[in-house]
Amino acid sequence: MSFVKVEKSGGFDIEIDNIASDKSISHRSAIFSLLSNKPSKIENFLEAEDTLNTLKIVEKLGANIDKNDNRITITPPLKIDEPNDILDCGNSGTAMRLFCGFLASKEGFFVLHGDKYLASRPMKRVVVPLKSIGAKIDGTKEGNFSPIAIRGSKLRAFRYESAIASAQVKSAMILSVLFSADETSYYKEPHLSRDHTEKMLRGMGADIFTDKEGVINIHPVEKPLKPLEIKIPSDPSSAFFFAVAAVISKDSKIVLKDVLLNPTRIEAFEVLKRMGADISYEIKDEKYEKIGDIIVKSSPLKGVEVSENIAWLIDELPALSIAMSQAEGKSTVKNAKELRVKESDRISTVVNNLKKCGIEVEEFEDGYEITGGKLKSATINSFGDHRIAMSFAIAGLVNGMRVEDIECIQTSFPNFMDILNKITRIDIGD
Ligand code: S3P
Repeated sequence: MSFVKVEKSGGFDIEIDNIASDKSISHRSAIFSLLSNKPSKIENFLEAEDTLNTLKIVEKLGANIDKNDNRITITPPLKIDEPNDILDCGNSGTAMRLFCGFLASKEGFFVLHGDKYLASRPMKRVVVPLKSIGAKIDGTKEGNFSPIAIRGSKLRAFRYESAIASAQVKSAMILSVLFSADETSYYKEPHLSRDHTEKMLRGMGADIFTDKEGVINIHPVEKPLKPLEIKIPSDPSSAFFFAVAAVISKDSKIVLKDVLLNPTRIEAFEVLKRMGADISYEIKDEKYEKIGDIIVKSSPLKGVEVSENIAWLIDELPALSIAMSQAEGKSTVKNAKELRVKESDRISTVVNNLKKCGIEVEEFEDGYEITGGKLKSATINSFGDHRIAMSFAIAGLVNGMRVEDIECIQTSFPNFMDILNKITRIDIGD
C-alpha cells in the first residue's frame, strides 16, 4: 500500500488551473446522457476511478462512448441493454444510488456492486422509497447493502418526504419516475441538498420545478430529453484542500481557477471566511452555474461553530477540521451524523487522526469539538477514504506528515499529488 511523506511548507504564491473536474456533475452527465436519444457532448469529464466506473456502466447499458482529448461524446442506445455482468460502482455511493433510481423502471435485470467500502454503506435510503412505488429491488441485510439486484418495472408517482438532505436520494427518486410514472411526483427534503440534478434535467427539457415550500414537482416526460452539451468546471470540494493549504501555510497565496461556485457547494469556503480567512471570488460565468476563480491567502484563524447547512459542506468537513486545528480556540461541528456513513466513518477517522497529531478533540455522535493547537507530524491511516488521505496530506504543510493507504485518492482527484508537489516537497513510496 503506498504512502506519502509531506514536508512542512516554506510558503507559495501560485495559480492552479487543473483542479479535478466536478465529480457530482461528471457522474450525472454520464448517467443523464441515457435520458436522451441523441449524442451528449461533455467537456472536462472527470477522469478519476469513480466517474470512469460510471462511464463503464453507461457503456454496459448500451451507450457508445467516443473520447477525444478532454471531450467525450456519449451516444445513448435506443433501449437500455440488459448487461450479462454485474455493474461495478467501485467506491462510489453516488453511482450506486443514482443507478438504483435510474434502473428501477428499465426493462431487464441489473446487479449493482462495488468495493468493500461501498459494501458497508447504507442503501435502504433509496431501496425503501423505491420499493414503496413498486420497484423490484433488493440487497443483502433486507435490502440495505450491496450487491443490489433490480428487476425493472413500472413505477407509481410518489409524494415523498425524505428524513435526510441527500442529493443522492433526491436524484435517485427523480430519475425513477421521470419516464415511468403517469402522474406528477412530489419530493421534499429537510434542507436543500446540492441541486445539480434538478438544474441539469431542467436544462435537458424535463418539466421539474421547486415550489415556494421547497417541494420538487416532477412531471412525467413522454419524449426523450434533449442531449447534454456541457463543460464541467473544477470541483469545489477538491479545490477546498488547496484553499486550506494556503490558509494554514505562512506567506502563501493560491488562485484556484474555474471552480464551480454553486451556493450549495461553497459553504466550506464561507465557513473558512467566518474563521477569518482571506478568500475572494472572481466570477467568470453565470449562464448555467456560477463559475469563477477563488483567491485564498494565508490568514490567522479563530474557532467557529458549524451546525447549519451541513449538506452544503459535508464533503469538505475533513479538510475543514485541519483548518479548525490551526484556529485559535475551540471549533464545533454538530448535526453532521451523515459523516458516519461516508467513504469511512469520518467522525471517527477525523477525530482519531487529529488526536495522533497531538490535537485535543472531543467526539460526539453527530460531530466533534476541536481545540486549536500545535499540529505534530504523525503517521496517518486514510482507512481507504480519499478525503481523509488528502486532508491529512494538507495538514503536513504545518509540520510534516506521513499518510498511508493513499491509492484511494485516485477515486476523485488523480493529480492531487502533482499539485501538492508544486507547493511543497513530497515523497511517495510503496
Ligand atoms: C453527492 C451527494 C452527497 C455527497 C457526495 C456526492 C452527489 O452525498 O456527500 O460526495 O453527487 O449527489 P449525500 O447525497 O449522501 O449527502
